[in-house]
Amino acid sequence: MAVDVLLGLQWGDEGKGKLADVFSADYDLVARFQGGPNAGHTLEFDGKKFVLNTVPSGIFFGNTVNLIGNGVVIDPIGLKAELDRLKAAGYDLLASQKLLISRRAHLILPTHRLLDAASERQLADGKIGSTLKGIGPAYRDKAGRNGLRIGDIVRPDFPERYRRLSAQHAYTLQALYRQMPDFEAEEQAFFEAVALLRQFPLVDADRVVDEYLRQGKKILAEGAQGTLLDVDFGAYPFVTSSNTTAAGACTGLGVAPRQIGEVIGVVKAYSTRVGSGPFPTELDDETGETLRHNGREFGSVSGRPRRTGWLDLPALKYAIRLNGVTRLVLTKADVLSGLPFLRVCTHYRVEGELIDYMPYDCAQAEPVFTELPGWSEDLTQVSSVTDLPDQLKNYIRLLESSLEVPISYVSVGPDRRQTLVNG
Ligand code: GTP
Repeated sequence: MAVDVLLGLQWGDEGKGKLADVFSADYDLVARFQGGPNAGHTLEFDGKKFVLNTVPSGIFFGNTVNLIGNGVVIDPIGLKAELDRLKAAGYDLLASQKLLISRRAHLILPTHRLLDAASERQLADGKIGSTLKGIGPAYRDKAGRNGLRIGDIVRPDFPERYRRLSAQHAYTLQALYRQMPDFEAEEQAFFEAVALLRQFPLVDADRVVDEYLRQGKKILAEGAQGTLLDVDFGAYPFVTSSNTTAAGACTGLGVAPRQIGEVIGVVKAYSTRVGSGPFPTELDDETGETLRHNGREFGSVSGRPRRTGWLDLPALKYAIRLNGVTRLVLTKADVLSGLPFLRVCTHYRVEGELIDYMPYDCAQAEPVFTELPGWSEDLTQVSSVTDLPDQLKNYIRLLESSLEVPISYVSVGPDRRQTLVNG
């Protein structure tokens, strides 16, 4: 048995949440391995819609257990709100004991959020495009060996440890704010949320994973954000603070590389990006607006309009190589219906030379496109790939031959049922 990984190959929002939910019926354990509550996995089924930020996407199937791994940073206030929403909708994860939390996962404090806002303000024009959830500062404390972890919340001296760290933050904040914001109410909410989290099974993620593997059970590691936002391999500094690539599943759960099985890469049929940073195939025109409108490309956490563009093969090849992708899922193919033609970036031109990989400085990369005919048919009711329009079949063939990985599923709508098996 091995751990399969499901992750996004672009800049996030590829529809991983929907696919993780669809696939989780086949898995005994679904685990988040990195990132924080800036993830916004949207799932739809039976006419209901859920947005999950920290909770893994496997909670809606009977016996699937869910694990928040050590690579994740947890905002107790946000997680409590998420758990309360789920409970109100009939999914009481405390009662069902279907959610395990790693003791090694780090905590986001109210002061981390203030630090996030302060550093974005300082950067002014050079903003990273942070979601201001305190994620970057929490990872900074983790790497700086300063952070607090879930395992600390059961220690009798947790309040002192909390006050020591938040006092350090306040010292920095006082230098940045003329008037220090009042966060007393937030602190109270933080301790209330921590009291709830204490009641969940707090575990060692690596041991849970090991036990499941030994028992021959199936595990899905679920990524958040996207490969091109990886802290090492994205266009730094316009990246997220964690390793979003398959290697992140190893460190974020405690899995040895040789225990990784399938790596399922989710690709949206066009490109989008939230926040600042290079985006070679960006469309700043009416077609871009059409994609944004038809694809409802507005952040599920921030509500911010997403930047839109054509599909980018050099970026995808890079993402496939970094992750060792074995299978692809193409999402949001339905959004392309009605476009008279489609463009796909096959190469970049950099200083007069044609390349098909992502260069160190991709802000200098000028996209070279090939054009394909579009289709007008609505795809949302299609139930088999054989009934897809020929132009979409061509598009899929072009992608499979350029990327050298099979597209195993095509998604034609947000609902679980709108998922077609290919081949
Ligand atoms: P992040 O981890 O935050 O990057 O999220 P994600 O990859 O899970 O994607 P997110 O849920 O933010 O965005 C995908 C959106 O598209 C959601 O609203 C989904 O319901 C929707 N969606 C997923 N697949 C399809 C599809 O095939 N067609 C259409 N029209 N919508 C889809």
